[in-house]
Amino acid sequence: MALKMGFSSFQFKDQFHSLTKKLFPWTLYALLPIALLSLYLYPLPFLPSTESELPHSISNTIISISTPPSFPSTPPPSEKENTFDTPPCDYFNGKWIRDRRGPLYNGTTCGTIKQGQNCIKHGRPDSDYLYWRWKPNECKLPRFEPKTFLQLIENKHVAFVGDSMARNQLESLLCMLSTVSSPELVYTNGEDNKFRKWHFDSHNASVSVYWSPFLVQGVEKSNEGLNHNKLYLDLVDEKWAKDMDHMDLIVLSVGHWFLHPAVYYEGDLVLGCHYCVGLNHTEIGFYEVLRKALRTSLNSIIDRRGSKGGKIDVIVTTFSPAHFEGEWDKAGACSKTRPYRSREKELEGMDGEMRKIEVEEVEDAKVKGSEFGGVRFEALDVTKLALLRPDGHPGPYMYPFPFANGVPERVQNDCVHWCLPGAIDTWNEIFLEIMKKWEEHPRYQE
Ligand SMILES: *[C@@H]1O[C@H](CO)[C@@H](O)[C@H](O)[C@H]1NC(C)=O
Ligand SMILES: *[C@@H]1O[C@H](CO)[C@@H](O)[C@H](O)[C@H]1NC(C)=O
Ligand SMILES: *[C@@H]1O[C@H](CO)[C@@H](O)[C@H](O)[C@H]1NC(C)=O
Repeated sequence: MALKMGFSSFQFKDQFHSLTKKLFPWTLYALLPIALLSLYLYPLPFLPSTESELPHSISNTIISISTPPSFPSTPPPSEKENTFDTPPCDYFNGKWIRDRRGPLYNGTTCGTIKQGQNCIKHGRPDSDYLYWRWKPNECKLPRFEPKTFLQLIENKHVAFVGDSMARNQLESLLCMLSTVSSPELVYTNGEDNKFRKWHFDSHNASVSVYWSPFLVQGVEKSNEGLNHNKLYLDLVDEKWAKDMDHMDLIVLSVGHWFLHPAVYYEGDLVLGCHYCVGLNHTEIGFYEVLRKALRTSLNSIIDRRGSKGGKIDVIVTTFSPAHFEGEWDKAGACSKTRPYRSREKELEGMDGEMRKIEVEEVEDAKVKGSEFGGVRFEALDVTKLALLRPDGHPGPYMYPFPFANGVPERVQNDCVHWCLPGAIDTWNEIFLEIMKKWEEHPRYQE
């Protein structure tokens, strides 16, 4: 079974002309504004079968952003330091403020940036998006400290598991860590480097990435084979789970692949499907499916590690919203160059629902895991701060110099992933804070 879609689902060169026949993630993303009208719970009322049937007019009318955000002034002077025994910081509520310091790294020195996210190299002309930092309302989020991070993962293995957002976050982390210590690529496997591992000799620390867009077992749709995904919701995906005994910290990051057409299995039964036109299955949407997939995965970690007295930490990165605001294949699909102000954009609809499910499942796992002192769970709650960054995506700069010969009639846009360096570096700043907090409050057994 060829797994052609993978990361390459975001590359259109060959597939572009078959758009009229295939339903791509992109066409679904183009429908996202409709999702905000909360139709996403139900089978979509129509299937765009040709380009001209994409809901252009609808998506255009939903662009409701009126006033451009102005630059907030300097941070308030009364910022409190995060001291011992303060309650955990709420990273969800906050705002993006100007930061003249800019990113820790640049794409020319980093070496591990996927082409599609290497925006500076691809000629993205504006650079304002690099000069912001997230200011939670209740605490301060320190700048990323690569040395501290490496010390905290000394003699450990950190595994990123999930879809291309997991990879995006991993590459940001590697770029930042590379500023103080060079990782050695020690393992690579799978089409498009879906499975990779690096080793930091300086700290005997390993960082790896596992492609597993559903976390549970699944067959991904492909150009030649299935035109929908098949998910087995009660079975964890052994592609990552088989290595669980050798992991000390797991970062799970999934979401966008659950939006695609799929048939869901539980045991021998077909539970239902999403968007499976022509098949005689019940449409059940994907919210409860995401919940079940997460629950199966988190439970399997508790069963295989916690109940055996093992020690493991698990972080679930919450859903990262896309920002398609116009037609996905026209210039300007996500062309903003400033963040939203905090009240300019509310978290709602599908983005909010996906996050809520993830946060709830993490809370649930915390309770189950607390029975065993060695298992810790935390949500890396980035949904809101990501929502406020429409300026952070590659857009047309997923390809080099897209406007070198003027503005073409059609230009592919990535309004899902994040430019590196960029907003996603903040995910790892919060990741580090979670680890520091854990270090302050050692687990039961230690
Ligand atoms: C990238 O960073 C390196 C090291 O900090 C620096 O020497 C180089 O000038 C930077 N390149 C660009 C294009 O900013
Ligand atoms: C290096 O780290 C691995 C875990 O990733 C551990 O099993 C091994 O014992 C460590 N080596 C030393 C010398 O501490
Ligand atoms: C669809 O499924 C229902 C219920 O399982 C069954 O009664 C019906 O005959 C099926 N229709 C087709 C066309 O297979």
